[in-house]
Amino acid sequence: MNILLLGSGGRENAMAWKIAQSPRLTQLFVAPGNPGTAALATNLDIAADDFSKLKVAVLDNKIDIVVVGPEDPLVKGIVDFFAADAALKNVPVVGPDKVGAQLEGSKDFSKQFMLRHNIPTAGYLSVTDDNLGEGIAYLKGLKPPYVLKADGLAAGKGVLILNDLGETIVELQSMLDGKFGAASQTVVIEEFLDGIECSVFVMTDGVNYKILPEAKDYKRIGEGDKGLNTGGMGAVSPVAFADAEFMQKVEERIIKPTVEGLRSEGILYKGFIFLGLIKVDGEPVTIEYNARMGDPETEVVMLRIKSDFLDLIEGVAYGNLNEKTLEIDERSAVTVMLVAGGYPEEYAKGDEITGLENVEGSIVFHAGTKAKDGKIVTNGGRVMAISSYGNSKAEALALSFANAQKISYDKKYFRSDIGFDL
Ligand code: AMP
Ligand code: GLY
Repeated sequence: MNILLLGSGGRENAMAWKIAQSPRLTQLFVAPGNPGTAALATNLDIAADDFSKLKVAVLDNKIDIVVVGPEDPLVKGIVDFFAADAALKNVPVVGPDKVGAQLEGSKDFSKQFMLRHNIPTAGYLSVTDDNLGEGIAYLKGLKPPYVLKADGLAAGKGVLILNDLGETIVELQSMLDGKFGAASQTVVIEEFLDGIECSVFVMTDGVNYKILPEAKDYKRIGEGDKGLNTGGMGAVSPVAFADAEFMQKVEERIIKPTVEGLRSEGILYKGFIFLGLIKVDGEPVTIEYNARMGDPETEVVMLRIKSDFLDLIEGVAYGNLNEKTLEIDERSAVTVMLVAGGYPEEYAKGDEITGLENVEGSIVFHAGTKAKDGKIVTNGGRVMAISSYGNSKAEALALSFANAQKISYDKKYFRSDIGFDL
């Protein structure tokens, strides 16, 4: 089986690591990949959303299944592109079609979907220039803090949580005026939910599903969950508060109606569903859907899948996921993200990374790195994820922190309190 994996981050390095362990694999290609995936697969110098170049690569390399890492190609319709192309239509793409990807691509679409299928989520109102007055009235009826969300993709920056009503109204207006470009022409105002968050991942072939290990990510740059939001500074799995009773509620109230709702609406969804959940008074509430795996959650979830991940991917691609087994590793898995100093604001690129050969007992997944003149240099805000197993979360964290110290580059930063709140 020849596999093409799309993407270039830590998530894709972790997926490549797991796929490369499969006895079912013949050749693994990653487009565009990074130095971490280059050690496991053949990197192809093609952007993940360059559909015409991907077509040539799929045919040249006799690819059997394409696995999509990031949301961008999905929202741009890679599944639809393959389905409409005579030469590609029999090559399954693991990911939803363009409509299914709207679960992530449009907050308004996902809220309406949840409402139609009785899936627990925060109350909301969608606002455009046409009903701004109604939006302001809705805000006045809410208690602070106020939640404003750009409807479209805004690189993880489109959610504002504000305490002052006046400031919220000013921000609402500025979002409608293009603060996040076209993504905020529609703004979703939501009730604020107070609770603790976790991420739950589902693989589905459109009918059957498997629930992957849950994880919790740490989004803020500073220790104690302070400071600016980032793409994610670390993750842990399992999540103690997502116990059997909670997960049972998640499956019955959220996962089943989501998969069944997609099917009943005729939306083609073979891929990953990422549920951003919050536990409020013991009950799961859906904050958001993503049409892909999480990053850095994948850097712990892959460690906890004991079964052959490629076998599960085949189940998604060929519609027989019900015949596959998913065995979970009982151990804890954690990841600690090393980032560039200054991130998520301005930061340097091109700094040499040393000490990788000294890492012992952890798995290093590359994120923002590149190879240059025989060296590995920084090439993004999130540089690499240091993942570890342990018999406890504390044991796994101790390993990741120790190895994080052995890797050096200018202005390296990481959070040394990942998992502190569990
Ligand atoms: P989203 O992009 O929808 O996942 O929102 C980003 C983050 O904002 C979430 O992970 C939450 O921490 C926070 N958030 C979003 N919606 C709400 C809400 N209704 N109540 C409280 N926090 C929220
Ligand atoms: N870790 C959150 C995300 O991937 O969106």
